[in-house]
Amino acid sequence: MKRRYIYSVVLTLLLLLSSAVVALAQASITKQSFGKTAAGENVDLYILKNVHGMEAKITNYGGIVVSLTALDRNRAYADVVLGFNDLESYLTKNDPYLGAIIGRFGNRIAKGRFNLNGVEYKLAVNNGENHLHGGIKGFDKVVWTGREMSTPNGPAVVLTYLSKDGEEGYPGNLRASVTYTLTNKNELRIDYSASTDKATVINLTHHSYFNLLGEGNSDILQHRVTINADRFVPTDAESIPTGELAKVVGTPFDFLKATAIGARINQDHEQLKFGNGYDHTWVINGRPGTLRLAATVAEPVQGRVMEVWTTEPGVQFYTGNFLDGSLTGKAGKPYPRRSGFCLETQHYPDSPNQPAFPTTTLRRGAPFRSTTIYRFRMPGQ
Ligand code: GAL
Repeated sequence: MKRRYIYSVVLTLLLLLSSAVVALAQASITKQSFGKTAAGENVDLYILKNVHGMEAKITNYGGIVVSLTALDRNRAYADVVLGFNDLESYLTKNDPYLGAIIGRFGNRIAKGRFNLNGVEYKLAVNNGENHLHGGIKGFDKVVWTGREMSTPNGPAVVLTYLSKDGEEGYPGNLRASVTYTLTNKNELRIDYSASTDKATVINLTHHSYFNLLGEGNSDILQHRVTINADRFVPTDAESIPTGELAKVVGTPFDFLKATAIGARINQDHEQLKFGNGYDHTWVINGRPGTLRLAATVAEPVQGRVMEVWTTEPGVQFYTGNFLDGSLTGKAGKPYPRRSGFCLETQHYPDSPNQPAFPTTTLRRGAPFRSTTIYRFRMPGQ
């Protein structure tokens, strides 16, 4: 009797152990060629799989997340980010930063100018009179050095890039590193770090366009969004902050309770006119520097839920207002207006010219660190 009991305990333990080993064995990272840039640089595509079978494809060109799968309530995977199948399309199409790393400075800097230690720096101007997303050749358009890594949390790829003193007008040699980990908790985790040899400004972010129905499948107007923010950053008609941090209460910018993106997007509100819809930074509640929930997005039909956690002070919620159907995605379907949304965790726009905003100055010897997590789950999980 006793012996049989011991046998069954041992057998159960062995079964548990072997299933754990099988599960862990499923996590993988492979690398394949994704082609060459016009200058002849080799570009790779890293394919990360976690123990549950969730998959991310990431290229070292622009640190772009090319595809990312997530389960729906029937346990069916779909690719939930907008993108292209081939490097050629990223290189030649008028790509609105699909899935890319944005740097040195995400969002706008008014007139492409700022002062630091009494020196005026002039940046590349690429958005009307203003500087946007790091300039003409930002971090989204450079080839990063990639290295795959297996971690206890899941497969990862480490991307590094040296942005030389003067690049796009910025001071200082900036060494940037971005680690993407596809964790076994179904998260795409992004750890950013950087250091400089001379004072500069920095605002790194990630620019995936999500559609929780799968890329190319309808607009995102029925997705229900919650943003953990009592205030947002109003702008002028050119999307440059006025300096005020306005209360969301009583406005179409109040997402403290889950609300469909489309419920108020066409309301007669000056800020919605300026943004062509939502294209603003929300001031995330809680202490910057600590990882806290910024936003939750729930798609009601198929049931995918995405949470965004970050250490950053703000999140730019952009509803794909400038997509116009001229780009065709991975499944051969066009990307019409509002067929994807971005939640770009970051400091507030134009911070170098707004002394009251949290600082984006990075000094020599003081490393920059920031973490953002896109976590996928099903309702009730
Ligand atoms: C967003 C920005 C928008 C637009 C878009 C790219 O991050 O907030 O105004 O520039 O990128 O088309």
